[in-house]
Amino acid sequence: MAPSLVHKWHHYLPLYERYFGPWRSRTNARLRFLEIGVSQGGSLAMWRRYFGPDAVIFGVDIDPACAAYDGQSGQVRIGSQDDPDFLRRVVAEMGGVDVILDDGSHVMAHIRASLLALFPLLSPGGIYMIEDLHTAYWKKFGGGYGSRDNFFDFVRLCIADMHHWYHQEPLAHPDLALQVAGLHVHDSIVVIDKAQVHKPTHSRVGEGSAGEGAE
Ligand SMILES: C[S@@+](CC[C@H](N)C(=O)[O-])C[C@H]1O[C@@H](n2cnc3c(N)ncnc32)[C@H](O)[C@@H]1O
Repeated sequence: MAPSLVHKWHHYLPLYERYFGPWRSRTNARLRFLEIGVSQGGSLAMWRRYFGPDAVIFGVDIDPACAAYDGQSGQVRIGSQDDPDFLRRVVAEMGGVDVILDDGSHVMAHIRASLLALFPLLSPGGIYMIEDLHTAYWKKFGGGYGSRDNFFDFVRLCIADMHHWYHQEPLAHPDLALQVAGLHVHDSIVVIDKAQVHKPTHSRVGEGSAGEGAE
């Protein structure tokens, strides 16, 4: 068995618990969890202990050496996170996916490519977490302070799409827009909630109310 090593920032741990915790107690179906970035297999071992023996756990990595961890704590598939066909094949093999964690290359173009390929495949109510996003400010990862390629600029456009009911601009990401139900930003971590969104409605109730009308 290949020895495993996990590398995580301490401040991520309560965020894992906050966003992944509810999935541990799920009883109606097996959780399907995908991590991008296997490295030395330690995180897959950690997720196996965390989610339990019944969870479907897959990891993908571009490094063929990671195949040594296949079948230890989860299944490992070798390919690039910016290859949508590869990602679609992995999710098909998993039988769908509920929770995705991107801890792969941390390169801006790769993060976007994976998100655009995988988010539509995520089950309704699923979550997509991206970590180590301090790289968004680093040029060698394709980012930079104020750069249009900084992932937080992508997040800004997702927020604008979320509010498209209230402005006239076209959707920046039409494939995601009506399925992004929430966006959570933490130090180096972004979490995106998937659920079908509907045009908001509102009512005024009470004496003297003039009925419906936008602010
Ligand atoms: C930060 S390490 C993963 C660490 C592991 N998740 C952990 O917590 O211990 C990043 C991994 O991403 C992989 N990687 C780099 N570029 C990639 C790509 N284009 N597609 C998939 N994986 C990639 C690297 O080979 C490396 O193993």
